[in-house]
Amino acid sequence: MSSGIRVGQAGLGEWGKNLARNFADLADLAWLTDPADGKEQVFAARYPQARWASSFEEMLADPDLQAVVIATPVPTHYELAKQALEAGKHVFVEKPPAMKAAEIDELVAIAEERDLVLMPGHLLLYHPGVQKLKELIDSGSLGEVLMVYGNRQNLGVIRKHENALWSLGVHDLSVILYLLDEDPSEAVAHGQSLLKTGVEDVVFCYLRFPSGRIAHMHLSWLDPHKMRKMTVVGSEKMAVFDDMELDRKVTIYEKSPWKPVNTYGEWQTRTGDIHIPKIATDEPLKLECQEFLRLVAGEGDRSKTARDGARVVRALDMLTASLDGS
Ligand SMILES: NC(=O)c1ccc[n+]([C@@H]2O[C@H](COP(=O)([O-])OP(=O)(O)OC[C@H]3O[C@@H](n4cnc5c(N)ncnc54)[C@H](O)[C@@H]3O)[C@@H](O)[C@H]2O)c1
Repeated sequence: MSSGIRVGQAGLGEWGKNLARNFADLADLAWLTDPADGKEQVFAARYPQARWASSFEEMLADPDLQAVVIATPVPTHYELAKQALEAGKHVFVEKPPAMKAAEIDELVAIAEERDLVLMPGHLLLYHPGVQKLKELIDSGSLGEVLMVYGNRQNLGVIRKHENALWSLGVHDLSVILYLLDEDPSEAVAHGQSLLKTGVEDVVFCYLRFPSGRIAHMHLSWLDPHKMRKMTVVGSEKMAVFDDMELDRKVTIYEKSPWKPVNTYGEWQTRTGDIHIPKIATDEPLKLECQEFLRLVAGEGDRSKTARDGARVVRALDMLTASLDGS
């Protein structure tokens, strides 16, 4: 059902078209804009209720427009989000919302000052499988979380401009920081440009947190395995979210280190049942768009959403700085 919230969208490329489909269902999709040839013809016909803006500024000038969706290339995000917030609009901006820690801090400050929503498009946080991992961690059922690691590997798609950290890593980084709810004290990346100078095809990241927990990400498009996996190792149980699986997205292993009293402090291991909980099949993108509209409508914690988004950009900035220097 439509929320009736008036939304305008900039960027109708490969990903933006999916956002427009959802916002047309869930909200009043009132404006569209994209300067590329042929976009107006296709999208004005698909969404006749929406007006076509010849520029981003024209769309922002509508005083009745409440919210803006930005699905343009990454280097444009910060400027467009800033313009929209300064025009008093709530903003949904595709990931990552900015390329530098200083930029995201500025966006968060503007959003907080004006009590506006600033929500980054971290799609995986709305995946019911990731929600399940979060529930397992927060309920304490895994025991104390010791480490988390992500695998995002495949053969292809080989990128020419963005390296594996920026094109693949943002997803896993957003999930790791969401699960642990902590800023890393250390974030180091090593990578190698094997096919094109200056574009790392393989990146390994290591993060350490003030609590002592650690995380790791293996990001690559030069790999025989297609992996989309996040593993959480707890002191009582271990859980895996595997997005390549159809009907066992999350598996919980009753495996853990164990110190029996009669062995004088030696560690042993314990292996028990393997449990596969049912995971809802709701479309994460729809859930993500609904969450944005809920925040615009005044529900939820809009300030936390913006600050959590900033945490991802800050960590990405740390990893990028170390990768450049490695
Ligand atoms: N959440 C996800 O899973 C996911 C998946 C893919 C892409 N993305 C993100 O979505 C964004 C777009 O990716 P894409 O694959 O659709 O790229 P794309 O290149 O296919 O589309 C970008 C579009 O933005 C338009 N554009 C450029 N500047 C503009 C401006 N100032 N105003 C309006 N339109 C403008 C371009 O003409 C193009 O049509 C990127 O930030 C990417 O990181 C997210």
